[in-house]
Amino acid sequence: MQGKIAMAGRRAIGVFDSGVGGLSVLRHIHQHLPHEPLLYIADSQYMPYGCKPASAVQARCMALASFLDKRHCKAMVVACNTATAAAVQELRAQYQFPVIGMEPAVKPAVRQSTSRVVGVLVTSGTAASEKFNRLASRFSQQARLIVQPCPGLVERIEAGDLASEQTRRLLLSLLRPLMHQGMDTLVLGCTHYPFITPLIRALIGDDIAIIDSGDAIARELERQLQRQYALSGHQYPAFIEFWSSGNTQTVAPVLSHLWGEQIILNRLAL
Ligand code: DGL
Repeated sequence: MQGKIAMAGRRAIGVFDSGVGGLSVLRHIHQHLPHEPLLYIADSQYMPYGCKPASAVQARCMALASFLDKRHCKAMVVACNTATAAAVQELRAQYQFPVIGMEPAVKPAVRQSTSRVVGVLVTSGTAASEKFNRLASRFSQQARLIVQPCPGLVERIEAGDLASEQTRRLLLSLLRPLMHQGMDTLVLGCTHYPFITPLIRALIGDDIAIIDSGDAIARELERQLQRQYALSGHQYPAFIEFWSSGNTQTVAPVLSHLWGEQIILNRLAL
């Protein structure tokens, strides 16, 4: 038993997203659990997930999970709301290790909103999913949820364009209807969106709260690993491996920029 626990401690936590967005979650995980080895996959070749049929997203998730399983990951974080809605049930059914999924932070947003008008930015895939609609209807008595799909936004962030006039204009057209309806809380329901928080803040002003799920996911991951005695016992900062199914020459600079340091990117041929 002791040996098994030590082995689990050394194995990595797999984290994946359609592209660079999941780094916003990886950051919380790394800050919260700095001794845990991490393996991040950006499925850049197949991004964006948000405008693809759920069955296609699910097929990609199963392929990525199988890769993480072969690398002996001890837990998996689906750092993508769209992928979670499409595949988390199937992933949990297939794998014994903890599978942590994302969910737009509607619950805390409704709890803290005083105007009772909450905006939720999501991908079209999340907006159409049964999982998200079940969540939204659970809170529909307590607040007015204005769900805003954001086609085209993930592509801007994948291109590393966090602040151009084009991104600003697109974002303004998405946010304006929410502001006109009196929202006082905005949920970032896609893991790419935290990277444009400064631009969102500049457009909506200081009086509207912005919430995402990154920190809550890191805490949930810790709880689940603790329960399985699978936390790393190391005291030194752990290594992070980065993989991408896309063109590493194009993806690596954006990943490095968003991560805040030069990363070595491995090519994932899947
Ligand atoms: N980052 C993903 C999410 O949280 C979606 C990005 C995409 O459309 O590929 O939903």
